[in-house]
Amino acid sequence: MNPFTHFLSIFAAPVAIARLQAHLSNGFLPMTTSGCLQFICVYVMTLVLSVSTYRLSPFHPLAQYPGPVLCKLSKLWMMYISSQGKQHIYYQALHRRYGDVVRIGKFEFIISNCRPCSGALAVNNTVNVAGPNELSIIDPSVMSPLYGQNELPKGPMWDGRLSGGQTRSLVAVRDLHEHARRRKPWARALGTAALKNYEPIMKQRAHELVERLERTDGRVDLAEFISFFAYDFMSDMAFGGGFDLLKNGDKNGFWRLLDSSVPTPTILGHAPWLSQYYARLPGKGTTMPEFRAFAYGCAQKRISEGSTAKDIFYYLNNEDGHEPVQPPLREVISGGTLVIVAGSDTTASALSNAFYMLLCNSTAYKRLRGEIDKHFAPGDDVSDVAKHLNMPYLNGVINESLRMFPPVPSGGQRANPHDAPTQILGSYAIPGGTSVITPIYVLHRDPRNFSEPETFMPERWMSPDLRAQLEPEIFSENKAASFVHEPTAFIPFSIGSSNCVGKSLAYQM
Ligand code: HEM
Ligand SMILES: *[C@@H]1O[C@H](CO)[C@@H](O)[C@H](O)[C@H]1NC(C)=O
Ligand SMILES: *[C@@H]1O[C@H](CO)[C@@H](O)[C@H](O)[C@H]1NC(C)=O
Ligand SMILES: *[C@@H]1O[C@H](CO)[C@@H](O)[C@H](O)[C@H]1NC(C)=O
Repeated sequence: MNPFTHFLSIFAAPVAIARLQAHLSNGFLPMTTSGCLQFICVYVMTLVLSVSTYRLSPFHPLAQYPGPVLCKLSKLWMMYISSQGKQHIYYQALHRRYGDVVRIGKFEFIISNCRPCSGALAVNNTVNVAGPNELSIIDPSVMSPLYGQNELPKGPMWDGRLSGGQTRSLVAVRDLHEHARRRKPWARALGTAALKNYEPIMKQRAHELVERLERTDGRVDLAEFISFFAYDFMSDMAFGGGFDLLKNGDKNGFWRLLDSSVPTPTILGHAPWLSQYYARLPGKGTTMPEFRAFAYGCAQKRISEGSTAKDIFYYLNNEDGHEPVQPPLREVISGGTLVIVAGSDTTASALSNAFYMLLCNSTAYKRLRGEIDKHFAPGDDVSDVAKHLNMPYLNGVINESLRMFPPVPSGGQRANPHDAPTQILGSYAIPGGTSVITPIYVLHRDPRNFSEPETFMPERWMSPDLRAQLEPEIFSENKAASFVHEPTAFIPFSIGSSNCVGKSLAYQM
């Protein structure tokens, strides 16, 4: 749906009526500007009023589900909430108040009722205006039908990431077949066999980070250095290098650009039809093309120079010759960009949060330190991945950080398509045109699945005897039974066929 159709459907009808009236009255009531404006006002107000009444009425398909009035009325409310950066906290409050399922919004914009004109006018129609109703569900019985087998396809929130005709990256592909096809090279690129090849690159970047920290004295913004490390490594993976933030700082401003552009799609995801306007605002969305040009340059250079190492690009560009058809260059580039966008901020945030929690809790810090000292002598190479597997406290710290601060706190949206029949997920009926999210942050802090959810306790991830040894107060044999620890409700990487392909790589980092 393009802006012209938006415009037309708001103004065409009242203006036409005004004209008709002027015509019928034989010039007795001439068509004046103010007359037209009156018609437009009345028309729009009637629309808003009738749409609002419908959304609150018992005739609405989601009327059976509870939720705040503002959410039922318009998705603009959730846009406002997410622009404040505390969307996940808001979801948590909603679930505390309303239970396992909450209606979090609806943005079935007026235009969606205007099929004939959209059919005729929509050219290159990438943004689907007919947005769905949306539910947030934290009942685990819904998770597996929602994300797992016969899962629902991705929801319209991903359209908020497009601002024009650019190629959809894997994460935004809503068609299940197309998604499965596009995901194949990713699965090879991030599978166990390929990961072995990335170890030296990761090792080198990790050394660079440590060196850089050693050279700095005084106060350090650890989160920024970690983020530089993650971006550097991911750009190595995506395009065979090009960032070098640890060495040069943010010379061409891409880090700031990418870092600051993360919230926008989240906000626009609530009302994808707005993204095309956003992209047209002066000074907004204009830096992304610059980055895309940069990515294009990196990819070109990479292709002309040939690969020196097997990285993710090697697979995405089908250099292993596995795919019968060579993917178009723009698809490969969108993939490279996605590696940086999906892989850097997530891992950087997970690592920063882990360090933050350790620095806040000296008990946990000392225990981890003890474990590291046990496995490595001073001067040893600590990046030995095989050894990490046998370090239960380290793995506990990682999972506990991901539990308390999942880097994708609101989860991925799925939707029952508009023309599809109602589907039953667990014990909920999901009518066609309904989107569903599982807010991971809320799920991870649900005391029914994790006792003492607000406490950072890596021990909860350890084996019964190890944790009883460390925290006898909580985990001694007669007490452990009353401590709930339900790892199936732990889904920082989502689950199912669209879960995070980069999961194993992320654990290595
Ligand atoms: C701690 C780190 C990470 C977390 C918590 C994380 C989380 C997630 C989640 C929750 C999704 C699913 C979104 C949905 O359900 O729609 C996802 C998808 C994805 N992630 Fe990650 N991610 C992390 C690191 C990475 C890394 C290192 C890569 C490497 C390139 C990566 C690449 C991707 C891609 C390509 C997708 C889209 C998959 C698809 O649609 O099939 N992620 N991630
Ligand atoms: C998490 O808690 C819910 C609600 O009490 C419960 O029904 C569910 O079984 C628990 N999760 C899992 C995966 O067992
Ligand atoms: C610090 O960590 C220990 C060990 O995991 C845990 O028992 C304790 O509750 C934590 N303290 C705080 C304030 O989170
Ligand atoms: C951490 O979580 C992952 C799932 O994301 C799981 O496979 C792994 O076993 C967990 N680690 C520990 C130590 O429980």
